[in-house]
Formats: sequence, C-alpha cells, structure tokens
Amino acid sequence: MHIEIDQDRLNEEIEALAAFSDAEAPAVTRVVFSERDAEARGWLQELFGKYGLTLRVDAVGNTFARWSGSRPELPAVATGSHVDAIPYSGRYDGVVGVLGGLEAIRALQRIGFKPERSIELILFTAEEPTRFGIGCLGSRLLSGTLAASVDKTLRDDQGDTLQVVRQRAGFTGPLESLRLPADTYSAFVELHIEQGPILEREKIAIGIVTNIAAPASFRLFIEGEGGHAGGRLMPGRRDALCAASEIVLAVERNALATGAIDTVATVGICQVHPGAINSIPSRVELAVDLRDTDEKRRDGVLAQIKSACAEIAERRKVEVKLEMINADAPALSAPQILEALTAACEAENVSHRRMVSRAYHDSSFMARIAPVALVFIPCRDGVSHRPDEYAAPEDIGRGVKVLARTLAALSKAN
Ligand code: GLV
Ligand code: MN
Ligand code: MN
Repeated sequence: MHIEIDQDRLNEEIEALAAFSDAEAPAVTRVVFSERDAEARGWLQELFGKYGLTLRVDAVGNTFARWSGSRPELPAVATGSHVDAIPYSGRYDGVVGVLGGLEAIRALQRIGFKPERSIELILFTAEEPTRFGIGCLGSRLLSGTLAASVDKTLRDDQGDTLQVVRQRAGFTGPLESLRLPADTYSAFVELHIEQGPILEREKIAIGIVTNIAAPASFRLFIEGEGGHAGGRLMPGRRDALCAASEIVLAVERNALATGAIDTVATVGICQVHPGAINSIPSRVELAVDLRDTDEKRRDGVLAQIKSACAEIAERRKVEVKLEMINADAPALSAPQILEALTAACEAENVSHRRMVSRAYHDSSFMARIAPVALVFIPCRDGVSHRPDEYAAPEDIGRGVKVLARTLAALSKAN
C-alpha cells in the first residue's frame, strides 16, 4: 500500500478553517456555539459531504461523517478531534485531527481502498472548557461520563444554560439520546499536535501515546470584605485578592512539591469583584486546572491545596469555598491500536516513540466506550494554546500517512 497525501490542499484547508475566528490572525478564537463556530461547522459539513461521507449530527453538535464499509453492520473504526479554539490560540490544536482525519480517508479513497468496517470521522463539540467550564463536553456526553442533566445546570458566562445555547445554535433534541453503546466503535484513533517539546527536541516524527494524564479542575470562591481603597486603613483588611494571591502560590508550590514532571497545576482564571482600582477586592473567583499521570498523586496535591486554602482563610479571615468541576481518571491506550500504529510507522519508515499525554483529549473519554489510542506529531517549540502554535506541513503529512495506514489496518473485519 502506497499512501500519498495531498499536502497543498490540506494546508489550504487548515488555513481556510483558521479564518473562522473572532481574533485577528494569526490568533484563532472559536468558541463553541458562537457565530464563527457555526460558520466553521457549515464549511466542514460541506467539505465532508464532498467525499461521500454520510453525516449525522447529534443534539449537542457532535458530528459524525461515515465512510461506509462493506460490512456496515460491524462496529466502525473512528478518528477525529475538535475544532473549537480557546481565546487567542492557534490553528492546529484539534484541527489536525479533523482535517488530517479527512485527508487520511481521502488518501485511502484515492488508492481505491475498500474498508470492511465503516470508517467514521468525528468532530467533537467543545473539547475546550471555554464556554461551559468543562472540557470534552461532547465526548463526555457520548461516553456517558456526564449526565444529560447538565443541559440545565451548565451555564456560560452570560448565565445561559447549555440547553438554551445549543438550541439557539440549532442543536435540538434530548441529551439522553447522545450516549453511544459500547460496541459502536471497534477502535478510535486521534491525531493531535504534541503540545509539548519532546518530539521536536528528539527529532522524532510520531509520538504513540500510551496513557493520558488524569485531569481535574475546580473553582475557588474567596469572600473577604470590600471598602474604600483610601479610607480603609491597612490593618485588619480582609482583602480577597491578597488571600487569592497566596492561594495561587500555594497551588504552584504544592504541584512543584511532588518533584514529578507529570504533576502540573495552573490557575487560569482570576475574577476580581468589584474590579475597581479604588476599591478593596471583596470577592475573587479562581479556576484551577490540576493534572497528573498518577491519579493518587494528583489527589494528594488536591488535598494539600485544600488544607492550604483552609490555613489562608483562617489567617486572613476570609471565606474560601471550593467547587469541583471534574476529577477524571487517566486513560490508557489499547495495546492492539498501539501495535497497529507501530506497524504503520514502520511501514512508512518514520521514527516513533511511546510517550504520555499531559493534555487531555476527546480520546480520554472515548476510552470509556472503545479501545483508543492517540498519535502525536511535533509542534514548534512545544507551543500550543498560543497564536504562534505551528506544526510543519511535512510533520502533519507524516502523521496523516500513519493515521491512514492505521485506519486501513483496523478496518479489517477482525
Ligand atoms: C486541552 O485543550 C487541554 O487543556 O488539555
Ligand atoms: Mn486545546
Ligand atoms: Mn486539542
């Protein structure tokens, strides 16, 4: 089997998709259910339709484009990723898995390959937590990791529920209908940029991911006492932002304290009330992202952060409340897909290594209903979630070839 990639067309498509953005290029902002998201989805659906793929869109906007196999009754092989982009990010995160997945299918179609199992490209809704505060919304719902009741409980920063926002975007129907039976897919393989520096540093073309770190996230509400920034004297203040600042540093300190490279913690949101230069902050909301490949170690850090919060609250006479958003288990790749990926790398004569993913992906949740594996390609300086995110066309091309071969191998009836 000789697989050729139409590199120029794939580049043009990546560029065209990047133009659906609320930020000026090179930055990309594409928040789920925004106008730009709707435009991007429309463009993608049209594109998928050109290659004979059968479309299905579920009640939260997860989109399935199926290339029917000669044995359509068998569980299908799936690939895909997301195209929502966090504010001021780049054009490759998720996109490489969607457009690269499409190119892998086209490459197989061009050589006349006829799959036995159907091959399905999935565009997941809201892998990024930007709008509703929780990542992998679509794949969590598909895999039954999140209850349909979130329709009425998840809200965006305008206070609108998921139900209202998705219906406004044209995605109707009950969320109960989303959950897929466990035998829907015989395999799911996601192509993604590494979002870290290892492949580039080691000059390796393909990362075969064996496990995905366990993500957790939570909100902290710090309640102090506001007042006039001039009139109120310093002694006895209960400044919520000063307490929050100590908490931010405690988060960093406790993550570093494990001494493990795989423990990472980030405070990515800090909202200060009332947010006036001459007013003492009375209320602060922080959002914390904490991850580790070792779930127990992650939970140990979480416990340390909680006790630091209690100590800071007492000493500074503020109230600190913690609300968990998610605390998920790590995901493991399936040995048979790791083997298929290794064989594909060898057939394509590209260098490869096994590695972990510290970022989460839709694969993390697809792993609950299907055997999965994640494939990485290098990205420049390991940069991601920034406008200067970059993956070289040749690196994307190698990833797509490996994906195409792997999908072909996995699509055999047994
Ligand atoms: C995904 O974008 C993540 O935050 O890991
Ligand atoms: Mn991302
Ligand atoms: Mn991603």
